[in-house]
Amino acid sequence: MLFTATDTSTAIWQTLLHELQRGALDPKHPFRYLTLASSGKQFPQVRTVVLRQFTADLEFLAYTDFRSSKVQELLEVPRVSLLFYHSKKQVQVRVKALATIHVADELAQEHWKRVSEKRRAEYQNKLGPGTRIERPAIGWESSSELAHFSVLKFSPLSIEVLQLAREGHVRIQFDLASGWQGAWLVP
Ligand SMILES: Cc1cc2nc3c(=O)[nH]c(=O)nc-3n(C[C@H](O)[C@H](O)[C@H](O)COP(=O)(O)O)c2cc1C
Repeated sequence: MLFTATDTSTAIWQTLLHELQRGALDPKHPFRYLTLASSGKQFPQVRTVVLRQFTADLEFLAYTDFRSSKVQELLEVPRVSLLFYHSKKQVQVRVKALATIHVADELAQEHWKRVSEKRRAEYQNKLGPGTRIERPAIGWESSSELAHFSVLKFSPLSIEVLQLAREGHVRIQFDLASGWQGAWLVP
């Protein structure tokens, strides 16, 4: 368990922020991966992305190829949901956030410097993600000239935590509007 029913809401908030920061730093932490949900044209769209940074301003950062479908979806509807699950600790974290896309600006350049040579190829494919191809190898062809790198920034409006426990589940919601004060909810 990460949280217990006797923890104060402030203690839960501090532990949560700490765990999210660890998630961004430790590749083995379950919060390293999150499910990003966006509004597709016909269906809600979900996919896994890597949490690259959780900033002191509570912003969640991820990287993507700016030609991917998710970028178009976020440009059309910037309201997203993020989902984290810590299976060992039985904790679910749901986030409602607003997305901004950073291409070739200061933030994108700063993060591009952190991407290793090997990993850079992932953003240098000739064809955009989701393009239909005749065989997998065509999808790995890269052009070293051009990178299609972007940073997705998710600024949270609310963060909800659910801790499962035998003695009783604990559910609490933190809102930007209330200065991130916690409100207990029926699980
Ligand atoms: C473990 C895992 C981590 C992933 N991390 C990322 C990521 O950080 N950024 C990304 O754009 N796609 C990532 N993907 C791929 C996405 O889940 C998705 O398939 C791809 O980005 C296309 O999504 P879209 O068509 O909705 O844009 C990851 C997939 C897996 C399985």
